[in-house]
Amino acid sequence: MPRSCASCVHAGADPTRRHFVAQGLLATLGVLVASACGDGVIGGPMAPRLAPALDEPLLVVLGDFPALGSVGGIARVDPGTAIPIAVSRVGESNYRAFSMVCPHASYRPISIVATGFQCPNHGARFAPDGDWTGGQRTSSLLEYTVVLDAGAGTLTIS
Ligand code: FES
Repeated sequence: MPRSCASCVHAGADPTRRHFVAQGLLATLGVLVASACGDGVIGGPMAPRLAPALDEPLLVVLGDFPALGSVGGIARVDPGTAIPIAVSRVGESNYRAFSMVCPHASYRPISIVATGFQCPNHGARFAPDGDWTGGQRTSSLLEYTVVLDAGAGTLTIS
């Protein structure tokens, strides 16, 4: 004889697997709805996500960007013809590259400020490591892959 419970929609249905799957889906949807705040973001801020690969790798000569001469420096490094990209020097030999397209509503380019990045459109703020830190709620910046050639003093961003 099939078992049933008070919350089963279909009386007499096998509550074991079907019931478990249905309740699991409802619980998942409930969590997603509860965590969405109407700004297109589900859940809290996340670490930067990998951006789609560039059509052509971007070669950056570090000496061309004085701001990158010290840890904490940030500079826009793209040639101005495609996606705006910034490099952030987060360590002696650690550079990270981010899209300067705001993840909230695609405003570009976001601004480089003393604390990292800020979007002038609705005020989202991001740390030098790309993490969303405040203002308009959104996700963190998209990040590109960076390869340092210390001998040549270059970065290859892809
Ligand atoms: S477009 Fe950047 S905060 Fe809205």
